[in-house]
Amino acid sequence: MTRASLFHNRVETLSLLNATESLSDIWVAGWVRTKRDSKNFVFLELNDGSTLANLQIIVDNDIAGGTLLDIVTTGTSVAIKGHLVASKGHGQRWELHAQSIEVLGTNHTDYPLQKKRHSDEFLRQNAHLRARTNKYGAIARLRSFLSSSVNRFFLEEGFKLVHTPIITGSDCEGAGEMFRVTTLSPAVKHETLSEDFFGQEAHLTVSGQLAVETYCLALSKVYTFGPTFRSENSNTSRHMAEFWMIEPEMAYADVHDNMDVSEKFIKSVLTDVLENCDEDMQLFFNYVDKDLPARLANLIENPFERVSYDKAIQILSSAEQQFEFPISWGHDLQTEHERYLTETYFKKAVFVYDWPLEIKAFYMRRNDDNKTVAAMDLLVPQIGELIGGSAREERLEVLTEAIKSNGDSLDDYWWYLDTRKFGSVPHAGFGLGFERLLMLITGVTNIRDVIPFPRTPKNLEF
Ligand code: 4AD
Ligand code: MG
Repeated sequence: MTRASLFHNRVETLSLLNATESLSDIWVAGWVRTKRDSKNFVFLELNDGSTLANLQIIVDNDIAGGTLLDIVTTGTSVAIKGHLVASKGHGQRWELHAQSIEVLGTNHTDYPLQKKRHSDEFLRQNAHLRARTNKYGAIARLRSFLSSSVNRFFLEEGFKLVHTPIITGSDCEGAGEMFRVTTLSPAVKHETLSEDFFGQEAHLTVSGQLAVETYCLALSKVYTFGPTFRSENSNTSRHMAEFWMIEPEMAYADVHDNMDVSEKFIKSVLTDVLENCDEDMQLFFNYVDKDLPARLANLIENPFERVSYDKAIQILSSAEQQFEFPISWGHDLQTEHERYLTETYFKKAVFVYDWPLEIKAFYMRRNDDNKTVAAMDLLVPQIGELIGGSAREERLEVLTEAIKSNGDSLDDYWWYLDTRKFGSVPHAGFGLGFERLLMLITGVTNIRDVIPFPRTPKNLEF
């Protein structure tokens, strides 16, 4: 048998821990978590990352040929053939009695994950290995499941997935927090942008929204789900320079429809994760945050509160709590204000809608009061802002004025304005930060721990 066929066809994943009967002559492979010697046997705990649980393997010293097992340590990768039989020991239902063992990769003595417990900071510095630990393996599996759950929700609701570009010539949020994309060498003095790859300034996108809107005004219900980039220099536990965003966009919808869909979406994916990822979720319930089950149940069971920005400012102004940042109408809410509203005052998820137009993006639909726009943010316990969205300005004249008063050139947005010139329709959409959703679901408090390779100021592991 060639090795290729061994790996492609024969190796079982550890989902066989759910087996209903014993199995003979099977192959498993993975990384040794622990090794324990007894007189005639060696006990290995094997994990292949497919589940949280390890498979206990009993290797007869004779089978291993005497010295083979000496080179097997924590972190070694092995392939083992054996019989899966009911375990007599407690703690596991099945164990594998090995017939043969092959060491795939020996482990050098400086393996950083020898110990059972490591600090999150230490593991961040070893991001290339941390998925081999229980917690980060569980996060990786949840991230994968959640991503499919997000897609399932929107597709079942009749949305079409649109792949919007990563490299862009426009600034969606108008906040100027963009990374430049160029092929020009900084060592050479260049006279004009026409020498650059695109012949104009290019950046990494901060949001797929403007592009996805053009598809909304053709397919009616669409969404995009991809990486977005922001060069904001905020070294917080909730911001990264590269994060993933889910952005649905719906025709014939207003800001209230937007809130309805957001709420249904959050409740649906939380329920899906709880129903399907119990083993991994137990790790977070037991070891990360004891309040997590109640918090998630609260989000699923209770209607989200909806308050206007005006009302939110009134509540914050009369709060007994002292805030570091003062409250006044016309200013953005700080995390401390967001958390007061959701954790202390309402004790549930809260939408804040109808925001002052000065602090929101140019594309948001202006309300009749000429002071506010039909924007909404969803605030949740522990995190603060999870979603930001709005009804979009579909009126050509109002949008044109908004771009101008932002100091931007109409030429840069000619294609966006075209969609309002040719068969414009009222529409609305929102953006949800995928990593913030993962923080909410796992109780993990640092956003750097829910993405495989976090990108933050002065931090770029390969
Ligand atoms: O509120 P934001 O900036 O909204 C937009 O970009 C809109 N264009 C979305 C839309 O309407 N289609 O960002 C949306 C969400 C935030 O609520 C937050 O969850 C997340 O994206 N987010 C970040 N997550 C991690 N790191 C950062 N630097 C983030 N900035 C925003
Ligand atoms: Mg926002």
